[in-house]
Amino acid sequence: MRTQRLFPASGAFLNERKRNPMTPRQGLHLLPFGATQPRQSEPVKTSLGAFQRWSPFGVNLWQTLKNPTKLWATGAASLHSAQGAAVGPAPTITFDPANQVFKLQSGTMSYFLHVNPEGDLEGLHWGKPVDTVHPELLKSTPGLDRSWQPALDLTAREFPDMGRGDTKTPAVKITAAQGQSSSQFKYVGHEIRPGLPALKNLPQFHEAETVGNACKTLIVRMRDDVTKVDAELTYSVLPEFNAVIRGTQLINRGSEPVQIEKLASFSTDFPPEDYRLLTLSGTWIREAQEETVPLKPGKLTIASNRGFSSHAHNPFITLLRPDATEDHGDAYGVALVYSGSFSAEVEQNVQQHTRLTMGLNPDCFSWRLQPGERFETPLALGVYSDQGLNGLSRQFHSVFRKHLVRKGWADKTPPVLLNTWEAVYFNVNHPEAIEIAKKAKALGVELLVVDDGWFGVKYPRNNDQAGLGDWVENPDKLPGGLQALGKAVNGLGLKFGIWVEPEMVNPNSELYEQHPDWVLHQPGRARTQQRNQLVLDLGRTEVQDHLIQSMSRLFDAGHIQYVKWDLNRLMTEVGSAALPPRQQKEAEHRYMLGIYRVLKVLTEKYPDILFEGCASGGGRFDAGMLPYFSQSWASDNTDAASRLAIQSGFARAYPIKGIGAHVSDVPNHQVGRTTSLKFRFHTAMSANLGLELDPRKMTPDETAFAKAQIALYKTIRPIVQDGHYRVLRPSKTNNWPAWMFSRPDGSEAVVFAFQKQAEPGLQIPMLKLAGLEEGALYSVSGLEKPVSGAYLMHVGLRPAFEGDYDSALLQLKRLKN
Ligand code: GLA
Repeated sequence: MRTQRLFPASGAFLNERKRNPMTPRQGLHLLPFGATQPRQSEPVKTSLGAFQRWSPFGVNLWQTLKNPTKLWATGAASLHSAQGAAVGPAPTITFDPANQVFKLQSGTMSYFLHVNPEGDLEGLHWGKPVDTVHPELLKSTPGLDRSWQPALDLTAREFPDMGRGDTKTPAVKITAAQGQSSSQFKYVGHEIRPGLPALKNLPQFHEAETVGNACKTLIVRMRDDVTKVDAELTYSVLPEFNAVIRGTQLINRGSEPVQIEKLASFSTDFPPEDYRLLTLSGTWIREAQEETVPLKPGKLTIASNRGFSSHAHNPFITLLRPDATEDHGDAYGVALVYSGSFSAEVEQNVQQHTRLTMGLNPDCFSWRLQPGERFETPLALGVYSDQGLNGLSRQFHSVFRKHLVRKGWADKTPPVLLNTWEAVYFNVNHPEAIEIAKKAKALGVELLVVDDGWFGVKYPRNNDQAGLGDWVENPDKLPGGLQALGKAVNGLGLKFGIWVEPEMVNPNSELYEQHPDWVLHQPGRARTQQRNQLVLDLGRTEVQDHLIQSMSRLFDAGHIQYVKWDLNRLMTEVGSAALPPRQQKEAEHRYMLGIYRVLKVLTEKYPDILFEGCASGGGRFDAGMLPYFSQSWASDNTDAASRLAIQSGFARAYPIKGIGAHVSDVPNHQVGRTTSLKFRFHTAMSANLGLELDPRKMTPDETAFAKAQIALYKTIRPIVQDGHYRVLRPSKTNNWPAWMFSRPDGSEAVVFAFQKQAEPGLQIPMLKLAGLEEGALYSVSGLEKPVSGAYLMHVGLRPAFEGDYDSALLQLKRLKN
């Protein structure tokens, strides 16, 4: 049997291997190939006639991908579209008055609701399209003992209220002025409208410019007669997508205040089944780890009570039916469009009735609703896919890009940036930044980011103990200010950007000296510091205005094309000096409304500045930030091996071009691991590539290798960032994780394959690709002869790796018949 090497060793690579004998050897082998007569059964129609030729660094000469677009240029044609499933007609919402049934139809999904004779809103079906659903056929068989399990407990409810026989998790809890804790919300009417609901203060989806008013929204009104509180449940459907956007609003039409203790954005019941639940959990430098557990009777809650969505659990969960795999079977995902404390509860009773509830975390929230007032919850996006987890991810990516990511930014090409943090940490200054910028420019970098350390006059920011809050340049480090540095960097042909952390303050700062009451705190309690800092009270309008002004002063000075907006601690002693005692539990949510206002004002005022989110890495990587931050720094852990799980975890929900990934120095600063430059590049190139190292310290070989990889990345960037993403082998459960990106029409693809540990005596399993055209022939980088799509997808390739942390990048191109 002959083994064919897909990646001949390159000059730079060999040099690197000489320098560091631990550098794994390159290669991806195709097996099985007959020694003399390869692929006899293959429908090889034509051969390229000659060997594919390679540049020294594996850049394919036949590479015909369009060159990367200019910085900030809007891509002429986005590669992005729905999950590749048949695109359905425009979405519809209809009501059948005879049966009191609503039918929402969009993409290849139906969602049926029913107003039952008791006035409850039931969920009848969420999944593949069907014409009708008959409520009476879905009724649960009565149990033997009805006195301990009322019928309501077996009803699939869309807005479960408290205290009248439904024992599963409620979506709403209100306390009336007289203290009653039960409620009875009954249907009173509905409306079907074009477009999407407009929220007052929270992030919202927007209609894609091309589809006009094609989105549709159903508003179902329910009323609790005792308190005279109305609930409006909104369900919006979007063209093309198997998606439903939900939200809840309460309106107090009574004459006395009520206390909202809980109000979910999304609540639905699934029919009995053996479900599995996938969540993204973690901590600092270990974000977005996939966890999959089978559901059992009882409740499983993932939540944040940290004030921000946090590293601990991402506000995104997926329910999988038993048959669901990476590419097949039913998967349901829900993402909350919110960046604060949240909870996602999945409860199954012994009959396997399964309820999924998601929204504000009731442990950290309570709201006094005065007569005449309205309260709106954050929105939540629910997505259904019959194409497993990969289909689900592609739907999430597409919906987010088209309808939620900051308007106009989803199709822009983000620059390859170099961030100074791991290069010089706090010791940044003008001359050194220029030296770094020159070297970066030579590598092909497109933007220089000056990270922490550049500000503070009375309290210079030379470490993390002082200066936060004082957004004025340190004259010793930047004598000409940001303006002079930005101008000089721009003069070198690079964009320029800065790091800020506006929501926080060090007690050692002029801001704190002037406004000690501007931080979240509770009277009489010590103010817990983390990283020597406190959290500003963004619920206060004057604090919001101060942030807008201090940031505007920086951005107005010019030469700033990028901002990394950081946030480096959780909330403690949450309370506001601006709120009366009985409203103190509103402080957290008011903070969120405040930060959303600040970000809306600034992103609209500075439409050309690229904002990247960061919260000690991925501590606020959520859908709520997408309308403002088109990309987010995924983790402070830059170790490429750790990054495989982190990046692919976030990629389950969030668009690839929004996942910031940097190549850094070795031994890695967080985990001490040494991996090859190739492995580090391949890991970062499978997301939004950047660098975070000191290019002055790179050897000539490393410089040449990095330059070639950046050039290669620019050619594949449109496919990686805008193509269809598929996990071939997940990082969580596989020693040989792999993923691929392809143009939606299957004409071109890029595959990244990795080996974590060298495993003696084991065979690396065949890697079957996906999303290609079966009957077409593909040229494959490293292979002499073309191979059919069918072969690549059904027989597959066997990557050949050597040593720990090896990797391969493979480019495929469909040949014309
Ligand atoms: C946080 C960020 C890092 C870096 C430092 C600067 O930890 O996540 O990327 O910006 O702050 O202090």
